[in-house]
Amino acid sequence: MDIRLHPSVLSADFVNMEAELQRISAADAVHVDVMDNHFVQALTFGPQMVKRIVEVSPVPLDVHLMVNHADAFAPGYAEIGAQSVTFHVEAAHDVGSTLRSIQSHGAKAGIALKPGTPLDPYMEFFHMADMVLVMTVEPGAGGQPFMSEMMPKLEQLREYLDQNGLSPLVEVDGGITVETLPIAWRHGANTFVAGSSVYGHGEPADNIEALRNSVKSEERN
Ligand code: DX5
Ligand code: ZN
Repeated sequence: MDIRLHPSVLSADFVNMEAELQRISAADAVHVDVMDNHFVQALTFGPQMVKRIVEVSPVPLDVHLMVNHADAFAPGYAEIGAQSVTFHVEAAHDVGSTLRSIQSHGAKAGIALKPGTPLDPYMEFFHMADMVLVMTVEPGAGGQPFMSEMMPKLEQLREYLDQNGLSPLVEVDGGITVETLPIAWRHGANTFVAGSSVYGHGEPADNIEALRNSVKSEERN
């Protein structure tokens, strides 16, 4: 079973971004958290910075927008070369047309759900989305503990996708470590964002390998 690992540069050293990107060349993509000081309190960076990251990154970009007015802003990140652009359903006026607009600009399109947001109103969009992101922390900051109470929601999503023959990537974001990754994997996730557990200690390349191995050792059991 192949999993995808997307380190989050939210936990990297912003003033050494190019070097920090080189340290995760063994990842499948780099997760780039765009925060606007409105949808979430924190403020990170916008399209100019993301465009530079596209230019220097050894791996494709998984852009996670935590911004209001997602309908207006999301397509721009597809245009500048992100591999995927994921926006929050809570911040979009027209989820379907925003998904289509991202796709028409040549990127994969994803929808994200905050911990308190149920799946049911959004089922129709799982048929169009290339990725569904189930947040396992409240969006806004790195380093928070994994919310295991999101596992029933993840399982419900996995069941719905399997029953309907759908295969968007199922991503989890927040508190992912060698302990929690296998838990989310068992409940149906296949794409894992990790900020602090990649950049927070030691060497990112070793941490990426340890995260990948956490599922392999699970499979052997
Ligand atoms: C939180 C961000 C995450 C963050 C995860 O709002 O969406 O991508 O970087 O950080 P960790 O892995 O430290 O929980
Ligand atoms: Zn994120």
